[in-house]
Amino acid sequence: MKNIGFFVTFEGGEGSGKSTQAKILYDRLVRNNFDVILTREPGGSIIAELIREILVKGDVSKLEPISELFLFAAARYDHLNKTVNPALEDNKIVICDRFIDSTSAYQGYGGNINQARIDEINNISIGNSYPNLTFICDVETDIGLKRSLRETNNETRFEKKTLDYHNKIRDGYLEIALNNKTRCSVIDGSKNIDQVSEEIYKIFIDKIENYNA
Ligand code: TYD
Repeated sequence: MKNIGFFVTFEGGEGSGKSTQAKILYDRLVRNNFDVILTREPGGSIIAELIREILVKGDVSKLEPISELFLFAAARYDHLNKTVNPALEDNKIVICDRFIDSTSAYQGYGGNINQARIDEINNISIGNSYPNLTFICDVETDIGLKRSLRETNNETRFEKKTLDYHNKIRDGYLEIALNNKTRCSVIDGSKNIDQVSEEIYKIFIDKIENYNA
């Protein structure tokens, strides 16, 4: 298949399996000779990775919500301009682990920042650069949190927030999916890894074939 710039994002709450699935899709596309890159947010460029350090480590409440929103937006602007857009212009497929919907879900639905304000900032950081396809990996909140706290690292600032906060994020993602039906596909992350990855691959191929046509 001819390569064209195509932007895919993976979204979901903690322990939803989205990073695992993003990597599985990436590996499969590499094996099938697609020209593809895998990147992530917060991060994905030199400056954005530095900002990530501030965002994901340390005390839960060390940042004012609006400062946090600006930091995600600053990281995203850099990542988009240094990594994502150049790859798309080069006709690559870009797979990104988290993007704009994470800000709506976490800072908006979870953090209670007014959605109009989130949209205003999102508009500055990405303009019209919306993904062509977004997978929203959905899993019950308590199962996801248990999975995610099993991983041993110190990037736990968000995991340490309350169950109520994570429930709001899950509900937020489901609402985002309803409001963006052509772009978003909700994936049942409680199924086994192979079933989930097969479903994702089918949806991806269907979408990119129609995009190419
Ligand atoms: P990530 O490294 O993807 O964590 P994980 O995949 O293990 O859940 O993201 C770090 C945290 O940043 C994650 O808890 C979600 C949060 N986040 C936001 O709150 N807003 C955003 O815009 C983004 C991109 C991430």
